[in-house]
Amino acid sequence: MIVFKFAVFLLAICIKYSSASCVCYQPQNYTGRSAPIGNSYQESDFSPCFLNSPPCSYVAYSGDDTYGWTGLILNWATTTGSGGLLEIFDGSDASGTPLIQVQEGDNILAGSPKNIIKSTSPRIYIRYNQTGNGSNAYYGTIRAESGLSPSVAPTTPTVAPVTRSFSSPDFPKDPYLITHDILVVINQRTNGGSSALRGVNAIAINFVGQLSTTTNANSDSGTRLSLASLTPYDPYYALRGDIWGLNASTLTTALPYNGIAIEGNIDQALTGLVDLAFTVNQNTTADSRRNVQRSIILFTGEWPTNAQLSLDVKNKFDSKGVNLLIVGYNLTDTEQSQLLRTDNRWYNAVNTQQTKSPAVASFVNPFYFNDGSATNYWCPPHPVTPSVDTTYVWFQEPYNYAGPYGTQDWNGFSSYDGQSNRYCNFANSVYTYNMPSTANTMKVQVFFELEAGKDFLNFYDASNNLIASFTGYDISASTFYTSTTTLTARFISDNQSIYRGFYVSITPQTL
Ligand SMILES: *[C@@H]1O[C@H](CO)[C@@H](O)[C@H](O)[C@H]1NC(C)=O
Ligand SMILES: *[C@@H]1O[C@H](CO)[C@@H](O)[C@H](O)[C@H]1NC(C)=O
Ligand SMILES: *[C@@H]1O[C@H](CO)[C@@H](O)[C@H](O)[C@H]1NC(C)=O
Ligand SMILES: *[C@@H]1O[C@H](CO)[C@@H](O)[C@H](O)[C@H]1NC(C)=O
Ligand SMILES: *[C@@H]1O[C@H](CO)[C@@H](O)[C@H](O)[C@H]1NC(C)=O
Ligand SMILES: *[C@@H]1O[C@H](CO)[C@@H](O)[C@H](O)[C@H]1NC(C)=O
Ligand SMILES: *[C@@H]1O[C@H](CO)[C@@H](O)[C@H](O)[C@H]1NC(C)=O
Repeated sequence: MIVFKFAVFLLAICIKYSSASCVCYQPQNYTGRSAPIGNSYQESDFSPCFLNSPPCSYVAYSGDDTYGWTGLILNWATTTGSGGLLEIFDGSDASGTPLIQVQEGDNILAGSPKNIIKSTSPRIYIRYNQTGNGSNAYYGTIRAESGLSPSVAPTTPTVAPVTRSFSSPDFPKDPYLITHDILVVINQRTNGGSSALRGVNAIAINFVGQLSTTTNANSDSGTRLSLASLTPYDPYYALRGDIWGLNASTLTTALPYNGIAIEGNIDQALTGLVDLAFTVNQNTTADSRRNVQRSIILFTGEWPTNAQLSLDVKNKFDSKGVNLLIVGYNLTDTEQSQLLRTDNRWYNAVNTQQTKSPAVASFVNPFYFNDGSATNYWCPPHPVTPSVDTTYVWFQEPYNYAGPYGTQDWNGFSSYDGQSNRYCNFANSVYTYNMPSTANTMKVQVFFELEAGKDFLNFYDASNNLIASFTGYDISASTFYTSTTTLTARFISDNQSIYRGFYVSITPQTL
């Protein structure tokens, strides 16, 4: 039994009728892989409205002449008997018999006959019309898939090495250095209408525009991008482009400028997106890369009370090694205090009133560059901790270190995919231990798996002399002895690959 809460959406053509700011949900032609369908709405609050004539319509192009359209999903939240009719034509105009016709109230579910129809053209013409004057509310999408004429093997662009000089008062390091698989998620629901949604989108644009992007699944530098938006119905998200196939300009083009009036479910959407976009080992281009840091950034102009980000959601993110950042735009004080709560907090979050570079710096610097300007929940420090029998102390990074390389994690958890429990890029952490007065030497054992020659775990004595340095890989434990009174370890990682980290035990001894 599917429960529909509905939302209202819609298509927008900027035509002004009796209701002054009633716009079509999708006002322009669309290019991409997931075309939106929804009712027309009032710009001020996304409430549904109606147009008499002409109907709302647009052309959806898959962006690739070998991709056709299929998989229509449509839910009606409100029906008013106003003769709503959705028609989808094969090709770029309304000529001929419609490929698909949907009357008001006809919900199209996955696997139904109208869901599996596929176009023969990479372009379809989508039109919605109604004869009455009551407003109904519906929402859906149709997606593009490969499969028209024989496909041409995609060529993978080779990224030329870039030398650039960088100077910005807002960023201590160049955002160009960020090497993540980043899924950008836009919440189309706001309490501030279209203007707030434009603000949300502007922050996202100013962020992705500063990145060095790649679509090469085998690359270990540059950022790969995906885009999704939140929707009111199960699964509560819609992809807005190829997974890991976007760059800053194609992502910008695919941002949603139409809102929704019905609240979705942020927890379920994020959980589903983690599973969808962060698999590895499938050997498809939709795999996320190995050994790179992974993050989801949700840009939102509201923070609904039903968004809990509970430990169940955390566990899902942890299981795939994905970090979560929420960027709020102009949230109310109440929303902000719920989002930035301190109990059981596991994700990073900011709320900003701005849309430009300083707004982007407010999350890039502390979280992507780990510069210490705010608590970074992505890479929490693990304190130097006494063993249960107090004969030694230990520390590790990441805080949830999974143990040496293998098909299982440290705790024998065999479904470990090898990509979770990683340290972060731009780590710079310090661990200090004072030798007890009862001892005169210390045995230090180090298990480590670090990016060779780039990420280092260094040990210093009380006079700050380097006494041991580890990089690369040794899971059988390297051991050294020192008689310094104060031992300091510093872990530094660069902007590229991240590995499983290290575990150190220090045993004071009397010789
Ligand atoms: C949409 O695409 C159709 C067919 O390609 C074209 O005739 C029409 O002018 C386009 N409309 C807009 C608003 O660009
Ligand atoms: C849309 O509906 C109006 C009102 O019934 C009708 O006059 C008009 O012909 C319809 N337009 C299309 C393109 O179906
Ligand atoms: C809507 O249609 C009904 C029945 O045709 C009519 O009585 C009513 O005045 C219309 N309302 C508006 C706002 O056009
Ligand atoms: C972004 O990707 C599109 C489509 O793949 C391509 O046409 C465009 O040149 C790319 N833009 C940049 C700046 O690389
Ligand atoms: C993916 O490709 C690698 C290398 O070609 C191969 O070893 C592995 O078995 C493949 N995995 C799957 C799931 O096909
Ligand atoms: C922020 O939201 C308030 C209402 O909570 C609104 O009055 C104000 O205009 C908004 N500011 C911006 C910059 O959108
Ligand atoms: C980031 O990675 C590039 C290689 O892509 C390297 O040249 C550069 O030095 C790195 N920057 C930092 C700050 O680690």
